[in-house]
Amino acid sequence: MKIGILTGGGDCPGLNPVIRAIVRKAILEGDEVLGLRYGWKGLIDKETIPLDVHSVSGILHRGGTILGTSRTNPYKKEGDSQKAIANFKELGLDALITIGGEDTLGAATKLYKDGLNTVGVPKTIDNDLGATDFTFGFDTAINIVTECLDRLHTTAESHNRVMVVEVMGRHAGWIAAYSGIAGGADYILIPEIAIDIEEVCQSIKKRHDRGKDFSIVVVAEGAFFKNENVALQEKKLDAFGHVRLGGIGHTLGKMVEQKTGYETRVTVLGHIQRGGTPSAFDRVLGTRFGAKAYDLVKSGTFGRMASLKGNKIVDVPLEEATAELKTLDMSVYDIAKIFFG
Ligand code: F6P
Repeated sequence: MKIGILTGGGDCPGLNPVIRAIVRKAILEGDEVLGLRYGWKGLIDKETIPLDVHSVSGILHRGGTILGTSRTNPYKKEGDSQKAIANFKELGLDALITIGGEDTLGAATKLYKDGLNTVGVPKTIDNDLGATDFTFGFDTAINIVTECLDRLHTTAESHNRVMVVEVMGRHAGWIAAYSGIAGGADYILIPEIAIDIEEVCQSIKKRHDRGKDFSIVVVAEGAFFKNENVALQEKKLDAFGHVRLGGIGHTLGKMVEQKTGYETRVTVLGHIQRGGTPSAFDRVLGTRFGAKAYDLVKSGTFGRMASLKGNKIVDVPLEEATAELKTLDMSVYDIAKIFFG
């Protein structure tokens, strides 16, 4: 078989372990693998790179993706999806493994329905894809944020300050809640619940009243104030129509300082959360997903996605992954709340 692989959307630690597993297993079975550069763009423009044992050597621990990525939407420009299907045939591909998040897998679902033999692998640091318990990249991101929170604790404590830390996650509070619990945050704000600024400030004051002169507040980039819109960095949309988030941390920091009178500093962690070497968990999960995706292709089981359910790797319909956003499990937030104030 000749199998194509592409990585689309934001990069994420663990992409290279997936690519490596697919290539190594395919080669063991005597199959050929072709990488498509920069997500769907590679299929539309026929920008490819052959993948063999040498090209995937030494990439297990490397962040990002050796294939490059982009947020190209094959259904945005007239004729692009037809071009993608025609190029799939011209390149002599039997199957395509699509590694991506909501947008990339959404496009894969449409292309599958339009006749493309594809299987999916779920990727995102946000952990907001349905039909899988966890996506790779999430574990690395929360470990990075946790380390940052540990570091911010010591400086917050030394200066008696409130530290507001803005984290990624789009419209789901997974990164905020998990890293906030692991990093001992004193308040965590998530997109699933509108921010009540009075409540946040009262909680910080209560903490100070019982002798704690510093506080750490984690805020998800997609969180928003009651009766107000999300604080936007700029009203720019990507090819899939998503608005760029970010900026809530600074707005919140100013309000906390004004209302509590405590000196406040803001840290926006940004792309630090997505860069660098994947955690051991993400390397293993990516490897397991890659091997599963190859098995699905080999057995001709298209329109499916590799998924983690409990500790088992299973396959689910591709369209289930993007049917609805997987927001934070509120039982996790209930645990976080024990430590507020
Ligand atoms: O989806 C992953 C993610 O890192 C989000 O958490 C964040 O909102 C977005 O991508 C940032 O996108 P970009 O890299 O295009 O700025």
